[in-house]
Amino acid sequence: MPLHRLTQIVMGVPNVEQTAAYYQDFGLTPSGGPLDTGAPDSGPVDAPAATTHKNGQRFRTVDGGEQLRIVRTPRRRLVELGVGVDDPDDLNRVTASLALLGVAADRTPSAVAAVDPGTEVRVRVELSPRYQQTATPLPAYNAPGINTRLQERAAGILREAPVQPRKLGHVVLGSTDQEFSQRFFQEGIGFKVSDTVKGLAAFMRCSSDHHNVLVQQAPVPYLHHTSWQVDDVDEVGRGATAMLQADPDRHTWGLGRHFIGSNFFWYLKDPAGTFSEYYSDLDCIVDDALWTPGQWEGAKSLWAWGPPPPPSFLAPEDLADLMTGAHSGPTK
Ligand SMILES: [Fe+2]
Repeated sequence: MPLHRLTQIVMGVPNVEQTAAYYQDFGLTPSGGPLDTGAPDSGPVDAPAATTHKNGQRFRTVDGGEQLRIVRTPRRRLVELGVGVDDPDDLNRVTASLALLGVAADRTPSAVAAVDPGTEVRVRVELSPRYQQTATPLPAYNAPGINTRLQERAAGILREAPVQPRKLGHVVLGSTDQEFSQRFFQEGIGFKVSDTVKGLAAFMRCSSDHHNVLVQQAPVPYLHHTSWQVDDVDEVGRGATAMLQADPDRHTWGLGRHFIGSNFFWYLKDPAGTFSEYYSDLDCIVDDALWTPGQWEGAKSLWAWGPPPPPSFLAPEDLADLMTGAHSGPTK
């Protein structure tokens, strides 16, 4: 497909310094040196990326480059979502598709951007080189009749290096108009639908990942969670364990395995109230003709095994505050 990756997200929070420290703990690498925790951001609130480039805190993943920027906004939200395409013809197509939907778009030689009214996210489709992830050998596992690890302990118990996410995998957005938001991403931008939850949500992809964006119906536009790929299930567990050793209150939901997308997951909560997920072993779709989207419902659509999700995962505790426009956390 002409869309090929998520590039970068811009996350807005009222408490930039606290939230930036959290994502450094999470394993993302600050760009441009150590975190600047002194001066408050000086850029205009909610300004588009091009005008606030020097503001905010920026982070890199191992394979995806600079993929997270945190800026100050009155309430926590996803300000911008970047999607990479191959060439200007792709930008022309997106511009024309958005016009058919009646959505105004800003076009430059290297990008086209438009705001989805349901999620209030500015989606920026931009020319971007593809990236090739370095192949990561699977650890040797023992299984009945297949013992591949002999006379040695499991790799997962011997690792000591801090967990570092390989790339940004997906974002989950609350939309006040799920139906239109799905059309925005699918018909306007060019995402493909991998699975749906009846009357509630659509899992959509702009790459071979099962999903890169999930839009679900919500009473207010908000960012539910971001998700970051790690090598394997041991890294999911090691990453979350380290985060909880630093602050047990970060725990939200895990360890488990999702049904839709099949991935192992563990969710934690950042200081602004947004969840962040470590994941591994997500379904991969390289041939659209060989994947049949399903329409799911009920609890099984959410997870295959693991503890049940806490009520605060399904309905974040600050939703009422977000609806009234109140600040959802400390301002420093
Ligand atoms: Fe997720």
